[in-house]
Amino acid sequence: MNILVLGSGAREHALCHALFRSPSVHKIFACPGNGGISQICNCIPFSTNAELIKYASNRVELAVVGSSKFVSSGTVDALVTAGIPVIGPAADAGRIETSKAFASHFLARHNIPAPMTQVVRNIREAQKFIAENPWVKVVKADGFARGTGVAVTSTPEEALEAAEVFFKVNGPPLILQEKLEGIECSYSILTDGNQWVSFSSSQDYKRVFDGETGPTTGGMGSVSPFPDLTPELEESIRQRVVIPTVHGLMQDKLIYRGFLSIQLMLTVHGPRVLEFNARLGDPETQSILARFRGNLATLLFDCSRGCLDATGSEVAFGRNWAVSVVLARAGYPVDESIEPVIRGLDEVKDGMIFHSSSVRSENDGGWKFTSGRLLTVTGVGETLSDAHSACYRDIDRISLQNVHYRTDIGAEKTPSSNT
Ligand code: GLY
Repeated sequence: MNILVLGSGAREHALCHALFRSPSVHKIFACPGNGGISQICNCIPFSTNAELIKYASNRVELAVVGSSKFVSSGTVDALVTAGIPVIGPAADAGRIETSKAFASHFLARHNIPAPMTQVVRNIREAQKFIAENPWVKVVKADGFARGTGVAVTSTPEEALEAAEVFFKVNGPPLILQEKLEGIECSYSILTDGNQWVSFSSSQDYKRVFDGETGPTTGGMGSVSPFPDLTPELEESIRQRVVIPTVHGLMQDKLIYRGFLSIQLMLTVHGPRVLEFNARLGDPETQSILARFRGNLATLLFDCSRGCLDATGSEVAFGRNWAVSVVLARAGYPVDESIEPVIRGLDEVKDGMIFHSSSVRSENDGGWKFTSGRLLTVTGVGETLSDAHSACYRDIDRISLQNVHYRTDIGAEKTPSSNT
């Protein structure tokens, strides 16, 4: 089978790496891919959906969405129309991620536990609602805002100020929410719109510095499975969140085939949905797939054709743990101008190193990068502590200049994000 992977980050590199191990795979194409991915796949940098479809038709049997950019830009719709099965929802079902207002209405309509929420369409509505409901502490823009669309506030005045800014910069609608206390957990499933399988749990470390401090980033590391996941907690997530979500999509006649990654706040009252991602997360994918033991290509191919053959079970994951650490530019996420120098990746013989937006330098064969996040290094072990040690042992083998990474991913007693 020939497969097309859509995206250019470390998550897509991890997807290509896992598909490459699938016995049924002949060739993998990545669009646009990156320098690391090009070591195992053909990278095809098409700029329009029409060009991509022309190339992919008669060449690939399955497309796999990494980045949700391909959901919102209509690439999935174009592939489906061209008769190419896709792992990833079309734009209408993808609104569960791409529109927070849509997701809020979906959660309320299907009685899925979530923070108290109000969607407002203009500043007068926001003013009135905030004045009458002092529990509003979180203000969110509706669509993608490159990490700048959420404000966590302390007073009604601050909430109103944030609403004014977001209306100006991002436009309506806005989402007003209570702030929940607890631990964030990510729970992923693969669904064909009818059946679903668990695709394991993970924890994302969002803040730039150790101890979960400093600015929020696109993710500085991940652990899988989620360390505090008990069988009771997992059952509660399945019953209260996963099953109503899959049924809700069906009831709303939204055809959803692909990964759904559910960001949860685990509160003293039970799990609450913070948001849906219509894909696997980055850097969660790097840890989750490092533990995957099945034939990923066959599983995804069956799912894309509506033929998943189990409901609720967990597909083949080893009993082991994975820890992933993101190596970022010094200065990330505030200043992304500092040029990193990375040498010695070949010293990591059996380890897993996934590239984000890398390009092989023609002059000296080294690596250049076009993003703030550079590489994800993943270690696997029989215990969380073994996986943590394996990951940091591999990082120590690489020569790094002007590079920053957290030293506490998967370490015991690392506080987790609660915003
Ligand atoms: N790690 C969160 C995301 O992929 O959006």
